[in-house]
Order: sequence, then structure tokens, then C-alpha cells
Amino acid sequence: MSAHNTKDQKDKVVHVYDGIEECDNALPRWWLWIFFGTITFGAAYWLSAEAFKTTASPRAAYQAEMDLVAAEEAQKMKALGSVTNESLAALAKDGKSLEDGKTVFATTCAPCHAATGGGGIGPNLTDEFWMHGGAPTKIYGTIKDGVVAKGMPAWGGSLGEERVRLVSAYVLTLKNTKAPGGKAPQGEPEL
Ligand code: HEC
Repeated sequence: MSAHNTKDQKDKVVHVYDGIEECDNALPRWWLWIFFGTITFGAAYWLSAEAFKTTASPRAAYQAEMDLVAAEEAQKMKALGSVTNESLAALAKDGKSLEDGKTVFATTCAPCHAATGGGGIGPNLTDEFWMHGGAPTKIYGTIKDGVVAKGMPAWGGSLGEERVRLVSAYVLTLKNTKAPGGKAPQGEPEL
């Protein structure tokens, strides 16, 4: 980058190899602005985010957001109360909750359990036979934690606590509805 200001191109040739000339041309002004600009920005950003902590570093900003989400989730769990056979049975009697639970079932569960709950890849949920227990909290537990080794995914993480409860309540209403064309019973009889 030495300052060759001569207009003659030939004067700028610093290296010739095999007929190929390497010239020492001055770098364009706009390029230098960007080059030194990024260095200045990088240094200022590092000083502000890491050395003096005047702006939140990406790591700190991420952590703050995650803490907020965790706090909201904890708040929600507290508001929802604990899961009992009674609380799930009560949800299963609430029209709006059932409507929401049905929507979750149609979009998330029907591909494996059929829209009617009659079963397909997954077992029939409309008979009185259960492999993992037919009590409301048992059904809720199966849905939340899944039976991953047997192809039933765990839904707690992806659906979240509230929707797991809603869809559990909806499944309670399918019990013993004997969907036509449903899969043969599996498990133990338990109403
Ligand atoms: C990828 C396919 C698949 C999806 C999607 C799926 N399931 Fe399952 N489900 C299964 C399989 C397979 C089993 C049987 C597991 C076993 O053999 O132990 C099962 C078992 C169950 C059981 C236990 C039945 C019993 O007899 O104890 C319940 C309840 C259930 N699923 C509900 C749901 C709900 C609610 C959803 C939607 C949130 C859902 N499943 C989504 C495949 C699926």
C-alpha cells in the first residue's frame, strides 16, 4: 500500500512472473472506509459489550430472554395448578377446552391415531384397553412423556403443558366410543 501516485501503470508493477504483472495500486477510498470502519466498529463493540458491559453481549441477551421464558412457563404452571384425575376430568367437561384439545388432536395426533382416535400406526384410543394405563393422569403421562422406544413421541416439550392437558382431556372423551373400523384392542381392559 505504499503511495505510488504516478499515473503510469508501468511504474506500479512490483512483481512479474511468467508474463503476469502484479501491480501495487492504491486501494479505493470506499474500500478503505469499509475496512477501517469494520475494525473500528469491532473494537468499539468489544469494549462496550465485553470490557465495560455497557451493552448486553449476545450471550447475556440470550440468557435474559431464556430466563424470562422460564419464569413465564413457571408462572403458567402455577396458574394451571397440579394435574389430578379430577382436574383432567373437569377439563373434559369444559366445552372450550375440549374444542382446543380436539384441534390439537386433529393436527398432531390424527396422523398416527386416526381422526376418530380409532388407531393406525398408534393404538386405538376409543376402546377400553390401555397399554400404559387408562386413568386420566396415566393418559396425560403417556402423552407428555411419550413411549419413545415404541414410536409414541413425547409431547410435553413441543406442545407445552397447557396443550398437553387439553389434548389429554379430549382423549378422555374418546374412551370407549368404539370408533367404527378401529384397530383391534391392545393392552388391558380399564375404563
Ligand atoms: C408418530 C406416531 C404417533 C403420533 C403422532 C402420536 N402417537 Fe400416540 N402412540 C403412538 C404409538 C406407536 C403408540 C403405542 C406405544 C406402545 O406400543 O407402547 C402410542 C400410544 C399412545 C397412547 C397410549 C395408549 C395406550 O394403550 O396406553 C396414548 C394415550 C396416545 N398415544 C395419545 C397420543 C396423543 C394425544 C397424540 C397427539 C398429541 C399422539 N398420541 C400422537 C404413535 C403416535
